[in-house]
Amino acid sequence: MKVTVIGTGYVGLVSGACFAEAGNKVMCLDLDAAKIATLNAGGIPIHEPGLEPMVARNREAGRLLFSSSYDEAVEHGDIIFLAVGTPPDEDGSADLSHILSAARSVGQRIRRSVVVVDKSTVPVGTADKVREAIASELARRGADLRFHVVSNPEFLKEGAAVNDFMRPDRIVIGSDDAEATAVMRQLYKPFNRNHNKLIEMDVRSAELTKYAANAMLATRISFMNELANLAEDLGADIEAVRHGIGSDPRIGPSFLYAGVGYGGSCFPKDVKALLKTAGDRGRRLRILDAVEQANEAQKSVLFDKISAHFGGSAGLRGLRIALWGLSFKPNTDDMREAPSLVLIGQLLAAGCSVQAYDPVARDEARRILQARHPDAFGSGALAIVASAKDALQDVDALALVTEWQEFRSPDFDALAACLRRKVIFDGRNQYEPAEVQAAGLAYHGIGRGT
Ligand code: UGA
Repeated sequence: MKVTVIGTGYVGLVSGACFAEAGNKVMCLDLDAAKIATLNAGGIPIHEPGLEPMVARNREAGRLLFSSSYDEAVEHGDIIFLAVGTPPDEDGSADLSHILSAARSVGQRIRRSVVVVDKSTVPVGTADKVREAIASELARRGADLRFHVVSNPEFLKEGAAVNDFMRPDRIVIGSDDAEATAVMRQLYKPFNRNHNKLIEMDVRSAELTKYAANAMLATRISFMNELANLAEDLGADIEAVRHGIGSDPRIGPSFLYAGVGYGGSCFPKDVKALLKTAGDRGRRLRILDAVEQANEAQKSVLFDKISAHFGGSAGLRGLRIALWGLSFKPNTDDMREAPSLVLIGQLLAAGCSVQAYDPVARDEARRILQARHPDAFGSGALAIVASAKDALQDVDALALVTEWQEFRSPDFDALAACLRRKVIFDGRNQYEPAEVQAAGLAYHGIGRGT
């Protein structure tokens, strides 16, 4: 099939590459000519395991093309995916200007019947707006063409995006037209072998499903984070509690990990957007409101522990803290809404200096932190170093913020020799408290009150 994907962000690029991998002829469009030049030269603008070789082999096979020309891209596809960004507006609602502008660009150019697919995360009702935008462009041109708008939200996770797309646990198709549904079924056939993963529904339900999924996952995380904080007061261990409840199939084991709060480009944005959607209709989503507040508070938990351990502001001043992990989660260089940014800001404000390391997000982190704390870089109060070991040189304590594989099993005796004040703050419950303590280090996890 001939597929066009508009937008080469995470979702667009991964979808385009995976559709090509399944044998389709795909053209990915981005108005950012520099990005297209990078892609055409074999480069990948994001860090995503498995994506680079997949893009390369499909590009070489002539199944995956990149273009910055709307004329070319719209001419190419019988199915046109809209996978452009929907960043939050100031009031929290999703900014639809990119998606509607893409829809107009499609409407200005189509010359045959097409299926237009909303792949971006968009508020309920957006497919109607996309349909109107295309129809009004067609009317302006006096063109009488049939087209359908389908909602096909994406559920991939950064860091596991290729696998999530190639082996989805569900494929949601929101469509009000049988013909368009049949086209989508055909397109997804290679991803839907053995067990039927297709879930067909109306357009609005599909749009809401995407927000409902992310809101539910965010709710689980905030719930566990709050219970973790309570576990500390009660002398209980949240890790044991997690095992204890996760084995109930009605609850399930995933997304119950307490930590330093959820970040990334999706949960924070989508929770806000759903709250706004509800608010616009005069409806208060009390649970989701609390989820967001709990998450904001959780991002300060590690700083609060560091501060309490050293006896408050007087004790903090002049300390040098090693920080392991900057990206919002492992296996990505994405720094959007990363809890590390909050912690670094708090440590610097308290007069600490920070020596940070991340396996892949160093450049992205430096770019963001240099803009936020230019003086700290200049004075040496903030440094981003090249290895986990370098981060431990001449520091008082270690804070683990992102659970990258390489931080999983450090030599605690070596750590005890490095850390002047002999303490680890484990923001992701990666270590066994007894093992850390046996090396002569104090241990602070999240919700480990025992
Ligand atoms: C999330 C969803 O998991 C995907 O299904 C969805 O497609 C995507 O958003 C999206 O809307 O595009 P992603 O943001 O890539 O994916 O990352 P997650 O693995 O979901 O993690 C989100 C945040 O929650 C991270 O900060 C992570 O550290 C945190 N988290 C996750 C926890 O604190 N505890 C957990 O148990 C799980």
